[in-house]
Amino acid sequence: MKRLRLAILISGRGSNMEQLLKACQDDAYPAQPVVVISNRADASGLSTARGFNVRAVAIPHKNYESRESFENEIDRVLCQTGVDIIALAGFMRVLTPGFVSRWAGRMINIHPSLLPKYPGLDTHRRAIEAGDKEAGCSVHWVTEGVDEGDVIAQSRVPVKAGDTAGSLSERVLLEEHALYPKALAKACELVRKKPSS
Ligand code: GRF
Repeated sequence: MKRLRLAILISGRGSNMEQLLKACQDDAYPAQPVVVISNRADASGLSTARGFNVRAVAIPHKNYESRESFENEIDRVLCQTGVDIIALAGFMRVLTPGFVSRWAGRMINIHPSLLPKYPGLDTHRRAIEAGDKEAGCSVHWVTEGVDEGDVIAQSRVPVKAGDTAGSLSERVLLEEHALYPKALAKACELVRKKPSS
């Protein structure tokens, strides 16, 4: 079966990206990476991607006068590369409704909380302060509202006595690494089943 052409958008270290790239090394995996894009030229994930022989492009948002012109450049690269599906992996820019609607049903994100709990930033601190016994991560479709799209898959971890935001984030990150490749495979199946627009 033809593998879907995957773009991964990052802003930093790209440890989730790395797990996706590892999964894609298996020819039977339903996606193949065709480009990694970062909005920061100094993102260490760019060189990690190149280490996997994947094209890695910096499109610094600071070089553009508006969110739309920044996203138009991303869109141009995605279209020129024939991308079928986008995985956001620690991409720290909120996307405009225009961009989101162009890629609706073909763009997913990983978020370090059990959505719908704690959309946005600082998820681990908020879970600890709320006294939650459980935390986790979610992979979801990207829609206009930040971290609001339907959940594709989740993993749970215990919150332990004495946890700090740092210790909890380490535990959750390990689960993110296991979850994202599985959730992307599931998303690919769903994209394939959709009639092409
Ligand atoms: C992850 O915790 C992810 O869930 C969040 O940002 C972090 C990115 O980490 N959106 P990395 O760049 O994948 O290492």
